[in-house]
Amino acid sequence: MALKPSLLYLLLLSSAAVISSLSHPPTTNVTTISPTHSPSAHTPSPAPTPKKPTTPISNSTSTLDPKQLRALQSLNIPISKDPCSVRPHVFTATACDSSKPFRHLLSLTLSNCSDDVALSLTALKSLSTLNTIQFINCPISPIRFPSELTSNLRSFTCINSLNKLTGIWLSRLQNVSDLTVSRVSITASGPSIILNSMKFLHSVTLSHTNLTGYLPKHCHSNLTTIDLSGNNLKGKIPLSLTHLENLVHLNLSSNSLNGTIPTTFGDLNALQNLSLASNSLSGSIPESLAAVPGLMHLDLGSNKLNGTIPKFIQDMKKLKYLNLEKNSFHGVLPFNATFIKRLEVLKLGENSNLCYNQSILGSKVKLGISPCDKHGLPLSPPSAKDSSDDDSSDSSNDEDYSNVEEKHHSHGPSKIVLGVAIGLSSIIFLIVFLFSNRFAPEMGKMGSVGYMPGQIKPDF
Ligand SMILES: *[C@@H]1O[C@H](CO)[C@@H](O)[C@H](O)[C@H]1NC(C)=O
Ligand SMILES: *[C@@H]1O[C@H](CO)[C@@H](O)[C@H](O)[C@H]1NC(C)=O
Ligand SMILES: *[C@@H]1O[C@H](CO)[C@@H](O)[C@H](O)[C@H]1NC(C)=O
Ligand SMILES: *[C@@H]1O[C@H](CO)[C@@H](O)[C@H](O)[C@H]1NC(C)=O
Ligand SMILES: *[C@@H]1O[C@H](CO)[C@@H](O)[C@H](O)[C@H]1NC(C)=O
Ligand SMILES: *[C@@H]1O[C@H](CO)[C@@H](O)[C@H](O)[C@H]1NC(C)=O
Ligand SMILES: *[C@@H]1O[C@H](CO)[C@@H](O)[C@H](O)[C@H]1NC(C)=O
Ligand SMILES: *[C@@H]1O[C@H](CO)[C@@H](O)[C@H](O)[C@H]1NC(C)=O
Ligand SMILES: *[C@@H]1O[C@H](CO)[C@@H](O)[C@H](O)[C@H]1NC(C)=O
Ligand SMILES: *[C@@H]1O[C@H](CO)[C@@H](O)[C@H](O)[C@H]1NC(C)=O
Ligand SMILES: *[C@@H]1O[C@H](CO)[C@@H](O)[C@H](O)[C@H]1NC(C)=O
Ligand SMILES: *[C@@H]1O[C@H](CO)[C@@H](O)[C@H](O)[C@H]1NC(C)=O
Repeated sequence: MALKPSLLYLLLLSSAAVISSLSHPPTTNVTTISPTHSPSAHTPSPAPTPKKPTTPISNSTSTLDPKQLRALQSLNIPISKDPCSVRPHVFTATACDSSKPFRHLLSLTLSNCSDDVALSLTALKSLSTLNTIQFINCPISPIRFPSELTSNLRSFTCINSLNKLTGIWLSRLQNVSDLTVSRVSITASGPSIILNSMKFLHSVTLSHTNLTGYLPKHCHSNLTTIDLSGNNLKGKIPLSLTHLENLVHLNLSSNSLNGTIPTTFGDLNALQNLSLASNSLSGSIPESLAAVPGLMHLDLGSNKLNGTIPKFIQDMKKLKYLNLEKNSFHGVLPFNATFIKRLEVLKLGENSNLCYNQSILGSKVKLGISPCDKHGLPLSPPSAKDSSDDDSSDSSNDEDYSNVEEKHHSHGPSKIVLGVAIGLSSIIFLIVFLFSNRFAPEMGKMGSVGYMPGQIKPDF
């Protein structure tokens, strides 16, 4: 009979386990730190949820090549016993092939690594089956990758990692189709030295790397993404760039580019997102841009562009984001209210000679620019004496694009009304409070918010 209580206890335990597993959905933190390595204080190591040692490895006919496991361990990379089963988005994410008897690593992501992670040539040689490597927030020292690894590598990502890189180091990754380096300083004479040898490149991001020099004269025609934003690139935008007929995203913002926007920009048929913002580009917006059918995002802000804003922009069906602020555009804005409402972002401010037609857009739009006079010149910024006798009905445009506000006299009266309303309601509130305290002390105890049924509820 001594069995019964323990059985009951077991039953209780297991039902508690079921309940707790119901209330805590299965955790994804499957990484278990390898025993050979003490977890560092710096690593945001996942809460220890050790698997039962008897748990069979769910989906793998074979495990990772022991040589590769040892290599990972020698790099002091915290890794689970079976890295092939680690799901992505944990501290160390991996992907493996399905070869037998041992699987091999195909992809490795190191994020937020601790200080004791250090790359070694021997270990990387063992890991040369990798085709994808990502370093995210891993400020460790780079070493020269073994040629077996660079030959297999298709995708290389380095964000705020590997301390310092050189153009020559990156240029060895000749077989990559996807190159992303961001927030790492790159020492190189220019992007060309890095990109010229990468014949299979589809997507390149070298952003916020303090890269100097000029834009490449020749690029591979299969490029779909170029992001060279946030560097110190100078000179003109080469005409050859507009030959990249597969280019979807082009971001050259925050550099020191000058000269004009090439008139052949319209040849970029596939272009969706274009940012040339924060450079020193001059001249006008090329007419050919009208021929780019899918343009969604156009950012030309903070340059020295001039001329009038072309009317064709209003006919770009996909456009959602338009930034033309901080330039020298002049004349009457050629947009109607329908178009302006369709945009998610419109920035036009700080173009001192640009203005909008009040009889088309109404007097209450907030575009960050002045209304025009009858000659198409900006009226002086609206002041208090601005006579707003034409009470335009089109006040629907209230997107907060800018900080320029149209001050109308109607604000005066409405402020008085608001003040009176607040005063009146406080008096009512006071009366209610006094009444409830005096005649219903038991309600007064409940606090000043109590009011008796039948009383008029103060309307806030
Ligand atoms: C899993 O990891 C995430 C981020 O790494 C952390 O915020 C979360 O608390 C962890 N959950 C458990 C159950 O360990
Ligand atoms: C193992 O996972 C792969 C993909 O990750 C899947 O295709 C396969 O069906 C799985 N095998 C088993 C036995 O679950
Ligand atoms: C890395 O650390 C950052 C901030 O400390 C955190 O937001 C991020 O989720 C971490 N990433 C991983 C994969 O643990
Ligand atoms: C690129 O890959 C091919 C085929 O995989 C290989 O023959 C070649 O050596 C690689 N190139 C470099 C520079 O590693
Ligand atoms: C780029 O240079 C600036 C100024 O010298 C420096 O503050 C910044 O940290 C550098 N950026 C990188 C990614 O090294
Ligand atoms: C571009 O890609 C196609 C197929 O995707 C390929 O046949 C062609 O060789 C590539 N061109 C270059 C210059 O890499
Ligand atoms: C271009 O790059 C800048 C800085 O890296 C970023 O803020 C911006 O969102 C990017 N724009 C586009 C269109 O990708
Ligand atoms: C553009 O910049 C280069 C050097 O950065 C300078 O030599 C050239 O004169 C500039 N061109 C214009 C039109 O400002
Ligand atoms: C492209 O532009 C759209 C619209 O502004 C934006 O939602 C999207 O994130 C941008 N994509 C890239 C890669 O910059
Ligand atoms: C625009 O600026 C260029 C020089 O950058 C000048 O030659 C041209 O006359 C200007 N055009 C207009 C319409 O102001
Ligand atoms: C606004 O402009 C668009 C594009 O040119 C046009 O289709 C639409 O009819 C115009 N709307 C009004 C109210 O004029
Ligand atoms: C503003 O629009 C009205 C009506 O379309 C037009 O008659 C007038 O000439 C325009 N004013 C300017 C300065 O373009």
